[in-house]
Amino acid sequence: MNVDAFQKTAPGGAVTRAGTGAAVISVRGLSKQFGTGPIVMSGLDLDVQQGSKVAIIGANGTGKSTLIRMLVRLVEPGGGDIRLLDEDVRSLGSASLKRLRSRVGFVFQRHNLVTRLSALTNVVHGVQSRRSGPRTWTQLLAPQEVRAEALHCLERVGLADKAMARVDTLSGGQSQRVAVARMLMQRPELVIADEPDASLDPKSGEEVMATLAALASEQNATLIFVSHRMEHAIRFSERIIGLGGGRVALDKPSHMASEAELTRFFHHD
Ligand SMILES: Nc1ncnc2c1ncn2[C@@H]1O[C@H](COP(=O)(O)OP(=O)(O)O)[C@@H](O)[C@H]1O
Ligand SMILES: [Mg+2]
Repeated sequence: MNVDAFQKTAPGGAVTRAGTGAAVISVRGLSKQFGTGPIVMSGLDLDVQQGSKVAIIGANGTGKSTLIRMLVRLVEPGGGDIRLLDEDVRSLGSASLKRLRSRVGFVFQRHNLVTRLSALTNVVHGVQSRRSGPRTWTQLLAPQEVRAEALHCLERVGLADKAMARVDTLSGGQSQRVAVARMLMQRPELVIADEPDASLDPKSGEEVMATLAALASEQNATLIFVSHRMEHAIRFSERIIGLGGGRVALDKPSHMASEAELTRFFHHD
């Protein structure tokens, strides 16, 4: 049984190494305005390499959530080009878009687990988001096999001992790690996390970020996360992208960034 959470191979089948692969995301001239409201994005360009870990920062309302949602058209882009996992996102029909989304694992600020069910059951449900072929083969998987993989995913986020616990008895940090385990069941090629650390106490937030970064490193998977905690942006990424004025206003290797500089970046905006 293959219990690898993230896929190890690029779409072409070649094994890739961190940061050396092709662009997983390539965005050109992206624009967005909500109705007659403010212009959120105006001519944003961005490339993200396969296997890299990228933090997205920016003041409230600079469009961080809008940007990552537009990548899979959870928000419709206004203009520009988006290539994601070798697909021309804006030209996809609904079936192809659904297939593309199944290759991307999302973690949000607030998990949407079913709180009256066990951690394990919630993780088992993650298999439903897995990419399926012409036939819905996930229906054909043996329940014991799915359950064993779900247990393994819980182990990987450090919660094997909480498998049978109802989610409403878990702490915020534990619940968020269950959400990460459920996302792992999907075996995503790309992980996008929107402030997964925001509604947690500092220690739990750090654990969630460390879990995500470690899983991505293990499998050379690509990780993009939004965080307003500068220490997390620096520590858990290799590259920091700052949004401002509807574009990329800062782009630097994380090891060259300081918290003081990033905080200044916010106040400039
Ligand atoms: N569905 C929407 N309808 C109208 N305005 C929106 C919508 N979503 C976001 N916005 C606006 O777009 C801007 C960017 O929002 P968002 O992407 O959530 O910013 P961030 O995640 O950086 O805080 C904000 O001004 C916000 O109010
Ligand atoms: Mg946001």
